[in-house]
Amino acid sequence: MHNVVISGTGLYTPANSISNEELVQSFNAYVHQFNIDNAAAIERGEVQALTESSAAFIEKASGIKSRFVMDKEGILDPQRMAPRLPERSNDEWSVLCQMAVAAAEQALQRAGRTAADIDGVIVACSNLQRAYPAIAIEVQEALGIEGFGFDMNVACSSATFGIQNAANSIKLGQARAILMVNPEVCTGHLNFRDRDSHFIFGDAATAVLLERADLATSEHQFEVVSTKLLTTFSNTIRNNFGFLNRAAEEGIGAPDKLFVQEGRKVFRDVCPMVAELIGAHLEENQLNVSDVKRFWLHQANLSMNHLIVKKLLGREATVEEAPVILDTYANTSSAGSVIAFHKNQDDLAKGSVAVLSSFGAGYSIGSVILRKC
Ligand code: COA
Repeated sequence: MHNVVISGTGLYTPANSISNEELVQSFNAYVHQFNIDNAAAIERGEVQALTESSAAFIEKASGIKSRFVMDKEGILDPQRMAPRLPERSNDEWSVLCQMAVAAAEQALQRAGRTAADIDGVIVACSNLQRAYPAIAIEVQEALGIEGFGFDMNVACSSATFGIQNAANSIKLGQARAILMVNPEVCTGHLNFRDRDSHFIFGDAATAVLLERADLATSEHQFEVVSTKLLTTFSNTIRNNFGFLNRAAEEGIGAPDKLFVQEGRKVFRDVCPMVAELIGAHLEENQLNVSDVKRFWLHQANLSMNHLIVKKLLGREATVEEAPVILDTYANTSSAGSVIAFHKNQDDLAKGSVAVLSSFGAGYSIGSVILRKC
C-alpha cells in the first residue's frame, strides 16, 4: 500500500459574473410580463400571479452576493432565462472539457507535473453534458495523458467521492497519479424562472492532483489521511432530466427536468448528518475536532456552514477556520469545497490537520482528512 498526497489544485473561474441585483432585475421583468400576459386568467383565479424576487432576501437567506457564469446574456434575457452555449462540432473540445483542462493545467503546474506523470483522469461532477464518450477520456486526450479516464456523478459530493476513488487506486498501485476534475455548468440545470431557487448556482471548474507520496515533489502537498463517505436516499433535491425523457412525451419541458429542491428540509436533514459524519471520522482517526485547523466545506448556504461547524466546535467558527467562497461563486456543486481549499491553503503550517467536506443530493456526504506536509 502506498501513501497518497494531494500535490496540486486548480481553479477555472468564468469571466462573467452576475450580481443578485442583476439577476433579480431580470427575474422581476419576467414576473411583470407573465402577470400582464396572464392577467385575465389570474383574474378568473385559473392562474396564480407570480411574485417578485428580492436581492436582500437572497443574501440574507443564502449568503450569496453574486455568481460566475459561462454565459451572462442568455441568463439575464427575460425572454430566455437560460445560458446560451452554442453547439460545437465533434472536432472541438466540449465546454466541460475546456473548463476541466483550464483547472487541470493549473493543478499540474502547482504540482510541478506534466501529462507524462499522470496515469488516470476522473471527471466527477453533477451534470455531464453528454452520454458518451466519457468527458474524462476527452480531457485525457486534450492533456495528452496516457492511461484511463472515467466520469462519475454523486451530485455536490462528486469531488470527495472522486478523491476517495483516486486515492484508493494510487494506494493499490494501480496508478502513480490521478487527476480528479470537477467542471460544473450549474446554470445549465438551474430554473431561472423559479423564485425559490433562481439564485442558488454558479459555474466553475476545479482540479485536484493526487499522487503517490514517495514520488511527489510539490511544495503544496497534503497527505490524504483518510476518507469517509455516506449516502442515504432522499427526493428533496432532484432533477429528472435524462435520456428516457423522450420516451415520456408528457413530461418534456416540465420543471422537474431541471434542479428542484425543498431547501428548508435539505437544511434540516443535512446539517446534523454532516456534523456527525465529520465528528465520527475524526474520532476514528484519533483526532479531536480542536485539532482541525481548517474546514473547507461545501458552499451552498452560509448559515448551513455556520451551523455545521458550530455543532462540531461548540462555538462559532472564524472565517479563517471555515473559509467562505459562496458569496462570490454561489453554489458551484462539487467544485465548491475545492474552491475553498484551493484559495485558502498556503497559509497553513506544516502538520496542520484540515477537513474537506461535501454534501448534497442523494443525500451524499464526504469527509476527507488532510494533513499539510
Ligand atoms: N425572493 C424573496 N422572497 C423569497 C424568495 C425570493 N427569491 N424565495 C422565497 N422567498 C420567500 C418565501 O416565499 C417565504 O415567504 P413566507 O415566509 O412568506 O412563506 C420566505 O421567503 C422563506 O422561504 P424559504 O424557501 O423557506 O427560505 P429559506 O430561508 O429556507 O431559504 C434557501 C431558501 C434555498 C436559501 C435555503 O433553504 C437553503 O439554502 N437550503 C439548503 C439548500 C442546499 O444546500 N441545497 C443543496 C443544493 S446542492
